Amino acid sequence: MLREPDVLSMLMRRKPAHSLVQDFYCDPGVYQVDLDRIWYRNWLFAIPACEIPKAGNYVVHEVGAYSVVIVRGTDGEIRAFHNSCRHRGSVLCKSKKGSNPKLVCPYHQWTYELDGRLLWARDMGPNFDPAKHGLKKVRCRNVSGLVYICLADEAPDATEFFADAARYLAPHDLENSKVAFESTIIENGNWKLVWENNRECYHCAGNHPSLCRTYPEDPRAAGNDSLADVSSALARHVTRCEAVGAPSAFKLSADGVWRFVRVPLLGTSESYTMDGKVAVTKPNSTLPFKDAGSLHLFNYPTTWNHFLSDHALVFRVTPISATQTEVCTKWLVHKDAEEGTDYDLKRLTEVWIATNAEDREVVENNQRGILSPAYDVGPYSEIHEGGLIQFTDWYADTLIRAITGRGVAVAAE
Ligand code: FES
Ligand SMILES: [Fe+2]
Repeated sequence: MLREPDVLSMLMRRKPAHSLVQDFYCDPGVYQVDLDRIWYRNWLFAIPACEIPKAGNYVVHEVGAYSVVIVRGTDGEIRAFHNSCRHRGSVLCKSKKGSNPKLVCPYHQWTYELDGRLLWARDMGPNFDPAKHGLKKVRCRNVSGLVYICLADEAPDATEFFADAARYLAPHDLENSKVAFESTIIENGNWKLVWENNRECYHCAGNHPSLCRTYPEDPRAAGNDSLADVSSALARHVTRCEAVGAPSAFKLSADGVWRFVRVPLLGTSESYTMDGKVAVTKPNSTLPFKDAGSLHLFNYPTTWNHFLSDHALVFRVTPISATQTEVCTKWLVHKDAEEGTDYDLKRLTEVWIATNAEDREVVENNQRGILSPAYDVGPYSEIHEGGLIQFTDWYADTLIRAITGRGVAVAAE
């Protein structure tokens, strides 16, 4: 099993604009370094806030060795806590999601307020101080309707991201949305292969017949290129959307960890449906035209998103092991949109259910091929795979900085 110095030395010898060497995609030691240095340190997208609309609604999210309960309090605030009782450590919330007026440990019924304070513990004697046994907090931010957590004691400074998210997401009413459908699949591939596949559409024409009805394969039209070398269609689209007050221009953070851009769909397409027309007639955006394309947001290592004029798609990536990754997709529609009246569930979901299944197939094939002793690193296409070059550069730079301790800005909180 490899250790940090090995990983660092492999990164320093990396061939730029090429896939990574085999160990990055399967070695348990590299996987542990990924968890320790990336997943346990960065801001991670967890759930859309509208998934827990009422006080007491909670969701449990597991990342590596951590289990986190995300819960809405009676004051409307969303908070996150380690899902481990302060008595003897039992898991507090056993279900993946639910609703409770209080958080009650199943073992000896220690009872916590929704804000984490310990409210009741039976027969703990006169010297027991409940104030010292509240749930351990996990950093949590509701970023314009997207709930982020950070497992680190010192969170990276994400001030600029939070501000830009508020700006770009303003036309999309995520707080007044609901989850119309969710799908969770496990892909037998390393989490970086899931991302590599996401960051290019070189594979789209050969694999995504449904998506290709509405989605442009050209990376310059899809805003997938790290250099923001945009097509005239994308440039026109950005100008048109910005003229009606919808922030749309390509913006990549200085450290490469997130990017926003609003891209046009093909021709007159309005949404990711088989006929290209909107899937939801009661939209969850204030965009004044239906063919507003898709506001793309990626934020490593957890999420990519498509915010359309009529609905939104949020994707969450969670590593399960060195060779397994969970991909959870949620379709968000206006909270008052009614299934059967304002949208048809099959029509809303069929393109991305098919696309996810097709992506899983190519990621799993990629992983299997990489596990062969004959695998060697291969070149990325500079024309189609600029997004991958950007992703692997971000991954390598982030790990090198974290391992060597050079220059990671920390929030002032
Ligand atoms: S471990 Fe939770 S009440 Fe005992
Ligand atoms: Fe794909």
